[in-house]
Amino acid sequence: MSLAQVLRDLPGDAPEAVVEHNFSKVFLNALGFENLEILPQFPVGKRFVDQAARKNPGEEDIFLSTRKNPYLYMEVKGRCENLSDEKHPNYRKAAFQLKQYLLHPDSKTVKWGILTNANHVQLFRKHGKVIHPITPCLSLKEDFEHTVSEIKRRIEAPSRALMVAVYNNKGGVGKTTTTLNIAATLALYRKRVLIVDFDPNQSDLGDALNLKPLNGKVFEALSNKECDVRSIISTYKFEHPRVKEPPEFDVILADEQLVSEKEEKDLRQQIKFYALRRLLESVQNDYDYILIDAPPNWRIFAQKALYAADVVLIPARHDNLHSLQNAGTAITQFIPETQVERRKFGDAGPIALPIFLNNAFRVTPAQVELMHQAIDGIIKDAKKNCSGFDLKPYFYPKDTQAHSNRKMIGIPYMAFISRADFMHMPAAFAFKQAREQYQNLVKEYFL
Ligand SMILES: Nc1ncnc2c1ncn2[C@@H]1O[C@H](COP(=O)(O)OP(=O)(O)O)[C@@H](O)[C@H]1O
Ligand SMILES: [Mg+2]
Repeated sequence: MSLAQVLRDLPGDAPEAVVEHNFSKVFLNALGFENLEILPQFPVGKRFVDQAARKNPGEEDIFLSTRKNPYLYMEVKGRCENLSDEKHPNYRKAAFQLKQYLLHPDSKTVKWGILTNANHVQLFRKHGKVIHPITPCLSLKEDFEHTVSEIKRRIEAPSRALMVAVYNNKGGVGKTTTTLNIAATLALYRKRVLIVDFDPNQSDLGDALNLKPLNGKVFEALSNKECDVRSIISTYKFEHPRVKEPPEFDVILADEQLVSEKEEKDLRQQIKFYALRRLLESVQNDYDYILIDAPPNWRIFAQKALYAADVVLIPARHDNLHSLQNAGTAITQFIPETQVERRKFGDAGPIALPIFLNNAFRVTPAQVELMHQAIDGIIKDAKKNCSGFDLKPYFYPKDTQAHSNRKMIGIPYMAFISRADFMHMPAAFAFKQAREQYQNLVKEYFL
């Protein structure tokens, strides 16, 4: 039976078992998987995901018989469950469940997750530890052929790098330091990394590596489609007599012309809002991670940085109320605004990672308690003023209904980190103690 027929014949109130029975396989067929490439009720730990799929490379490795190395999971719900409203408990529960399957140690080879109720469908990508939506929730009622081809197109040509914007509306919270050290640490794990200094007013990233800003070249690359981005990429290598294969990462330095000569109004005309994304997409398959250091405001460069991103890492400081409030504002306002723009082009747009607590001073228990009180206030305000928005998982990702846990992801104050600034190299390269902190951090978020 064709997908069109199945969608037409499936009752509007079909429960999960009926959707699963009548729709799942036909839908996966439409996405390009043959019957020998699909397994229902695939075991993941002690539970079962509704469908798993993977292309057979040849006759000696048939997924249906080897049952190994799944590539895609699909979680199916009844037609009455609401999967089109991200705030609805049905959606949140289903998305959470899919995420648990994708992150399970048995799912190392899985790259995609699909959530569907045969009315709507959404595609998620898994990149290391990060699960992020690739499409918004798409309809299967109107123009299902377009929805199918959008999902098929993306799973058939996956892009390699995860694009991460490092952003907080507040300065001095560790955006540049974090960008640099995460890049250095990922490079130590032999990941291919590109960092972009998109804060031309400060150009701190280049300073930290002792590299001079570019003059006009980034502007040229952003405003001219024909310009090859590789011409503005340089490589930073950690040379040390005792290191045999020096770790390295690539850098796009700040462009001083972007600040010195141009008014924001003119810049907006010359550089399209998708320019940075387009530029970085052209090298996305050369890297595992692309990190963008964004400026501390909500103007043109910060907006383009978020627009380009899959996920946003938001550093904040325990002793700085504004940085915590701004983290909340980014999550409740700026990121949703950016999603609206990206959705016009059929993309999901960026999501926030849990807030990163970067302590640039030593902290006492009393100060920590003060911070938690402030965070409680921020969470309460967001609930009240942003139609029920729940910020709690962003501040306290380990908190569950069963176990209250106020641990935040972060790194402590370390004199080594600021000392490395003077040495013009990432602390993660220069000091073992700093390296260990950043290794834990990178494992927590990415690996
Ligand atoms: N965890 C830390 N421990 C010690 N010093 C830090 C830490 N994180 C950042 N710093 C220092 O704080 C200052 C501001 O950090 P920076 O990354 O430039 O902030 P931003 O980019 O948000 O303006 C820098 O001097 C940096 O070395
Ligand atoms: Mg900075």
